[in-house]
Parts: sequence; C-alpha cells; structure tokens
Amino acid sequence: MNPFVAGVAAPPIPEARGWAARYDGAFGPAIDLTQAVPGYPAHPDLVARMAGAAADPASYAYGEITGDLALRTAYAAEVASLYGTQIEPGHVAITTGANMASFAVTMLVAKAGDAIMLPVPWYFNHQMNAGLLGVDVVPLPCGAQNGFVPDAQKAARLLHPRVKAIFLVSPNNPTGAIYPPATVAAFAELARERGIVLVVDETYRDFLPAGVDRPHDLFGGDWQEHVVQLYSFSKSYCVPGFRAGAIVAGQAMIGEITKILDCLQICAPRVGQAALAWGVEGLRDWRAENRVTMNGRSAACRDAFAGVPEWRIDSQGAYFAYLRHPYPGRSAWEVAEALATRRGVVTLPGDAFGPGQSDYLRLAFANVDAPEIAGVARRLVGFQL
Ligand SMILES: Cc1ncc(COP(=O)(O)O)c(C=O)c1O
Repeated sequence: MNPFVAGVAAPPIPEARGWAARYDGAFGPAIDLTQAVPGYPAHPDLVARMAGAAADPASYAYGEITGDLALRTAYAAEVASLYGTQIEPGHVAITTGANMASFAVTMLVAKAGDAIMLPVPWYFNHQMNAGLLGVDVVPLPCGAQNGFVPDAQKAARLLHPRVKAIFLVSPNNPTGAIYPPATVAAFAELARERGIVLVVDETYRDFLPAGVDRPHDLFGGDWQEHVVQLYSFSKSYCVPGFRAGAIVAGQAMIGEITKILDCLQICAPRVGQAALAWGVEGLRDWRAENRVTMNGRSAACRDAFAGVPEWRIDSQGAYFAYLRHPYPGRSAWEVAEALATRRGVVTLPGDAFGPGQSDYLRLAFANVDAPEIAGVARRLVGFQL
C-alpha cells in the first residue's frame, strides 16, 4: 500500500451517516446535515435536456479532454460577465466535479515533498488531495475573532520555499465565511510576489448574500500565471451526481493540466455537459431564486439557534453554519455522535476540518427547509452529553 494513501484519514461523511442507524426515532426522523447538497430538485428543463442528451449517440463518444466547447464557451462567458473581464474557452477546463479539479491542480503545482497552504478549518478533500500526493500542508489558522477570514500577513510569515500554492474557499466550507475582495486580493498579491499559485475554490459562489455580486477582482490584471479558480456545477444546478466542475486558469496551465485530466478522466461525463451548456444561461434566473432561498435558510438557522444560546453559531453563510457546542474540551466527534444517536441530528464534527476544531460542528443547512432547521434547534433543548 502506498504510505501516502494509507496515511490519509477515511472520508468523514459515511462515518457520520452511520451513526444515524443507532438513533431510535424518538424525536422524529433523523435530520441529515452532513453533506452539502441542495434540498430541492434540479430544474425540470435541465432534467429534460439531460434525458435528450442521454438518448443522443453523440453523448456516448469520448469528448475533448478539457470539456465540450459548448460548455466551456458558456462558462467562460459567465465568468467573464461576472468578473467584468475577458475569459476565453481556452482558459477553461471542465472536470468530473470540483473535487477532481482541486486534485488535478494540486498535482499540477506540487510534487511529493512540496507543500500547499490551507487556511484552517480546511475543506477536508483539499487536505486529502495533498496527503495522497505526498504533499505537505502548511496550516494557516483562522479564528472566530476574525470571522474565520484568513490573514495574508500571517500567511506571508508562514510561507516557506516548499509551499507552491495557497488554497482559499469562499464562501467557505465549513464556516460559511465570505472573504472580502481585499483579502482575496492580498493573497493574490502574496502569491504573485512569491511566484506561487493562489487557488480560489468558488463552489458556493452562486449563494453569496444579496448585494455581494463579485467575489473579487483578481481577473482584472495580470492573473494568468498565479491565479486558478475552481467551480462546481453540483450545488448551483442541483446535480452533484452529474459530476461536473470547472477550472479557470491561464492557457499555459490549462495546457499542462490537460495531461493530468487525460489520465484522470479522458473527458468529463458528456450527458451532463450537454445539459449544462444550456443551463448556464438558461437557468440564470432560477439560480438567482435559489440564492434567495439559501440566504433565507441561513437567516432561519440564525433565528432558530437564538433559542438555544449555549450552542453558538460563530460563523455562517452559503450552505453552512459553524456551531460552537457547549462542551469545551470534549471532542467534537463525541458530541456529534451523541447528537446523531440520541437526537437524530446528524452533523460533521469540526475535527474533520483540521486541527483545533474540536469545539465545533458543521451544519450543512442547505439540505433542509426552514421548519426543519427550527426543529434541529429544538432537538438541542435539554440535551446533555
Ligand atoms: C469547497 C468545495 N469544493 C469542492 C466540492 C466538491 O464539488 P464537486 O461535487 O463538484 O466535486 C465541495 C463539495 O462539498 C466543496 O465544498
């Protein structure tokens, strides 16, 4: 067994879901807040196009390694209009989900023995990518006192010559924190100065709060050698099983990453690509409505937890609330397991997201509607560890 692989912890979501099997249903059906999936269906017109594409023999052939031109063109236009810049289809690679994108980008920038920097708490798959490849992780601690927004000056002090990239996730998983454009710009400047790459994972970009429309201005200037942007179609289009994500990068990087993607995927699944090529423009209004829905769930979550003040939401946004449990010093695994088995509230422990996170649970509230969120908070009343 490759020791790099054996050294990576098991994926946390199946373990957390397993706890629910031991819950006796006393408080009603188990509420699954473990995985970040939208709790509403895909749009019927997208489903119809998917069915049409599934019946079209053209979908059964291999496609271009970096994705079908129709989807790359649609997505490049979307990024260009959002960021008020020029993005070409040649800057885009379509991947089999954003997780494959981050794996491929980690492999692109770092060899075994190099390092990447991840703000803590981190998205566990970014850390797992590094582990699988024998790449070290330099943690960049972020705290509730700063709203879990990373500090570029602190990052500058922690960088060393083996660090080849910094990964940011905004809106963040697990904290929901939304990084101010000035923060993202400071990290891009740091990456440029040090000759390394800033990777910005924008999986939850379509769920920014009202009024926050452009997450950053990185594409305004000379970005091609030090900025990479990742996106997922899973959440925005409610199609996590389609497996579709995207990388935006300079053409030289896209050229190199094509070698990696050829080995990992040959091409991304084409049925989904065909439907999404229409959906990027065709479902713009629907996505905007879902953004309002998700912002509403976030507000419902804040209101619901006001009734159980000993469980404190330290940060929230997009799909997530980062909840401080009232048992300092106790492991979040223990708290999460007890909540799942005794109250049927299934969450992920903060420890899954990096060191020093034992006081937290991650609630993916996107999965449930406002009344269910209120029910989650009610189930915490009177809970004793
Ligand atoms: C930050 C982040 N990146 C990537 C992904 C994975 O997205 P995909 O389904 O496109 O692989 C997720 C899913 O939870 C995520 O939270």
